[in-house]
Amino acid sequence: MAFGGRPLDRGTVSGSIYRIIGGCRLTGSVTIGGAKNNALPCMAAALLTSEPVRLSNVPAIADVRILAEILRQLGATVDFDPEEHTLTVQASGDLGHAPPDDLVGQLRGSFLVTGPLLARGGRAVCAPPGGDEIGRRPVDVHLNGFAALGAEVAWEDGCFSLKAERLTGARVVLDYPSVVGTENLILAAVLAEGRTTIVNAAMEPEVACLAAMLNDMGARVAAAGGNTITIDGVDSLGGVSHGLIPDRIEAGTFAVAAAITGGDIFIEGAEPQHLYALLAKLNEIGVETEEAPAGIRVYATGPLVAANVQAVPYPGLATDLQALVTTLLTQAEGTSVVHERVFEKRLGYVEDLRAMGAQIDVVASTATVYGPTPLHGAVVQGRDIRSAASLMLAALAAEGASELRDADHLARGYEDLDAKLRALGADIAPRVETGASTR
Ligand code: EPU
Repeated sequence: MAFGGRPLDRGTVSGSIYRIIGGCRLTGSVTIGGAKNNALPCMAAALLTSEPVRLSNVPAIADVRILAEILRQLGATVDFDPEEHTLTVQASGDLGHAPPDDLVGQLRGSFLVTGPLLARGGRAVCAPPGGDEIGRRPVDVHLNGFAALGAEVAWEDGCFSLKAERLTGARVVLDYPSVVGTENLILAAVLAEGRTTIVNAAMEPEVACLAAMLNDMGARVAAAGGNTITIDGVDSLGGVSHGLIPDRIEAGTFAVAAAITGGDIFIEGAEPQHLYALLAKLNEIGVETEEAPAGIRVYATGPLVAANVQAVPYPGLATDLQALVTTLLTQAEGTSVVHERVFEKRLGYVEDLRAMGAQIDVVASTATVYGPTPLHGAVVQGRDIRSAASLMLAALAAEGASELRDADHLARGYEDLDAKLRALGADIAPRVETGASTR
């Protein structure tokens, strides 16, 4: 079978696959779910108390299910209702201190259990976390922070070993404003003796939401969302009911879907304030956006124009939106330069865009996009959550049929992305499972 005039020539068909017919204009309304990167730290926070923690607006995605299993294996009771999007954790009784290596290796957010385990039980042993292969992903920010709070940090038998009688507050200056690193240190410091100040903290909205939840549990975290956070340790924390913030990356994905298909989508539940950098860039490219109390309307009426992009920490344009915006820029008139400043290997998907007809040069972490180039269907391969989403959108904008292989990545971070796109008019056949991944 030929795809967009090209034979299926990219190796044995395996992994999960979507077949997509391009050329549809996406229109209508879509509702955004709760944020993946907010769900994970809030779930880990439940380990800090023996009382029940109830989370709402929890996305039914693989990463949430895997972290739920990690919490269970540590001894917590976890009840996840994917229809209601609620998740209850109760970590009463004795907890283990070593999350299972195989599950830890599946997502980066798994390392978030170490802060709470160290704070509550004085001990954590954890393998290096897995996650997307998008560049170096060390955990030195976490480990240096734990050490500054008085923990003994060692590397033993392929795991990080962390020990502390009780953590003590300290000033912790982060080498880099790591998102999960900041969250892990907050989770450790809330039960420490005295005041912790985190300088050069990540300012992502997910950090502020985690802090709000912890404060509702009795913690004293101030100024989260800014670059310097103070935490006054308390002796214990109680249960809480907490709603997660909308997923700004899912919202951004639908914004780009509207733009690249010349469509018109109302993104219900999207929080404009979390997306200012993307909205400004879309406007510069020639895409119209309208902010409303219930969400954001994104539509494209005229030609798109090239723009330069820097993917940086919040409140700049998120690295998780970089591949999506670069994909859109293939349809813009002129030369665009995209600098990926956060992860050094986050341009791998460019090879697949080229297979669809895009003209993009890559030098180190900078992509130069020459547009507009009409895209045609091809066989392409997801490499991580966001590159898979970008290639799905490229396929929707392309002429002819495409096949997106190794599409399993999407289920890690998006709940029903294909069904939501279909409801907006996309021609995407249901996912086919064909066995092991091609890589
Ligand atoms: N870094 C260090 N040392 C550390 C930690 C990070 O040098 O100890 C460096 C990394 O090498 C990288 C940069 O800091 O160059 C950014 O990493 P960061 O720690 O901020 O990323 P993360 O916390 O591991 C979260 C999201 C990612 C998102 C990044 C950047 C979660 C679970 N993951 O990762 O989300 O790309 O922040 O915003 O919150 C995704 O959702 O698809 C995803 C990859």
